[in-house]
Amino acid sequence: MSHVYVLNGPNLNRLGTREPDIYGSTTFAELAADCVATAAELGLTATVLQTNDESELIGWLHQAQDEGAAVVLNPAAFTHYSYALRDACAMLTSPLVEVHLSNPAAREEFRHISVISAVASGTIAGFGVDSYRLGLRAVAAMVAG
Ligand code: DQA
Repeated sequence: MSHVYVLNGPNLNRLGTREPDIYGSTTFAELAADCVATAAELGLTATVLQTNDESELIGWLHQAQDEGAAVVLNPAAFTHYSYALRDACAMLTSPLVEVHLSNPAAREEFRHISVISAVASGTIAGFGVDSYRLGLRAVAAMVAG
């Protein structure tokens, strides 16, 4: 069974109370449980992790690379400026799907740039929790070949 890491960057641990008009009312714990259940339906196993620390997130990407695991990544604000995260993503040889709850292209100008997108297999944004479900579906399709 293929494994997927669902990795989440800064402030996503605050989901549920963080700007719910933008990010919805689903808590991070609920999102994580949903991802595990969706992955199982798709024949995948999933580990869902969140950190506010760039270094820790990079370490998890290295781990995914070492294990040949796929990644669904919401880099949160790191999306817009972290070249270190981008370089870690560029090393991955398995599928990498960038996801966002909101649609950054429809928000402030600084959110229009993703330094991650060019090294991702694809990006899904703007569908709330469904962005993660669709991201997992894309991973399942890619690992099935
Ligand atoms: C986000 C969008 C980013 O611009 C923002 O910094 C986040 C969340 C999203 O999921 O919509 O923290 O990645």
